[in-house]
Amino acid sequence: MKTIAIYNNKGGVGKSTTTLFLADFFSSLNIGKNKARILVIDMDGQASTATALLGLQEVAESQSAEQSFPHFLKALHDNVSGLKLSHYIKIRKAGITKSKNIPLGTLGVMTPDRPTTIKLETSWDMASFLKTSSRLKKSLTKNFDIVFIDLPANIDERNKLALTGILIADRILIPTEPSRIALNALTDTFDIIQYARGIAVKSQSTPSIAGLLLNKTDRRTRQYKLHHKELFNLANHHHTTVFKNFLPSAPALAGSSDDSISFSTLKEKYETYYDNVRRVALELAGKCGYRLSAARK
Ligand SMILES: Nc1ncnc2c1ncn2[C@@H]1O[C@H](COP(=O)(O)OP(=O)(O)OP(=O)(O)O)[C@@H](O)[C@H]1O
Ligand SMILES: [Mg+2]
Repeated sequence: MKTIAIYNNKGGVGKSTTTLFLADFFSSLNIGKNKARILVIDMDGQASTATALLGLQEVAESQSAEQSFPHFLKALHDNVSGLKLSHYIKIRKAGITKSKNIPLGTLGVMTPDRPTTIKLETSWDMASFLKTSSRLKKSLTKNFDIVFIDLPANIDERNKLALTGILIADRILIPTEPSRIALNALTDTFDIIQYARGIAVKSQSTPSIAGLLLNKTDRRTRQYKLHHKELFNLANHHHTTVFKNFLPSAPALAGSSDDSISFSTLKEKYETYYDNVRRVALELAGKCGYRLSAARK
């Protein structure tokens, strides 16, 4: 199992959108000979990714039934007897898109719940989060090939759950934009990652950065021309790279996360941008050493 956290401490750069695209893309592939088993953990109280995948109602139901991700952490921590991981995972079912017959894979989704997160963060110290997160990893390992974690923006040392999300990741993917404000915010992002690495227990491996992914990007614009060199230098300074492929700014991509449009048509909604999503996903797969192939029907 590989865990990939999607993180930038700046808001609105495309963390949730990227998580959604990647999880959806990988869910329709094979890893080795078998269907890729993909889980999305939404750690952002806003629940953008969970809502896009499951719809508002199912997210609300999972929260009120105490089946959200923080509820699962609590149950793990409390050693609840007969604890079942599947109880806390909602499924975006496999199927075929309506008009173009594109296969959609099954996706597991764990939902966020802000009140429960706040309760845990006020009553547990960081050590409890770290201890529980190693149990969490053990319980996920057997069941999934790739776990995507969608993180919130504005993480600081008080956000122990989000810090746990950074720490349980093997790799961190940083979506960003080629703008001055996005560039300025990157230092903050690298600082938080460094902070998280610093609180890891000695036996724990810490995440490496998979790279910076340019989102909402048009290479012909003045903004890109002005800022891309600095972005590459900054990546280099932090021992990482900028993805060769990028995601353009497009209404079709923004619309993909709109849960009022049936998610089963997502790939049709990518429209001509599907290839951008595919290239980014394959570049990530290459960086993570996955052997992917098209899934048999
Ligand atoms: N490539 C894109 N083209 C056009 N719009 C995009 C693209 N990527 C994201 N958006 C839009 O930008 C907005 C912010 O995206 P998103 O919610 O994915 O960012 P985020 O980093 O997860 O934000 P937050 O920090 O609030 O969690 C959304 O309205 C989304 O639809
Ligand atoms: Mg988000």
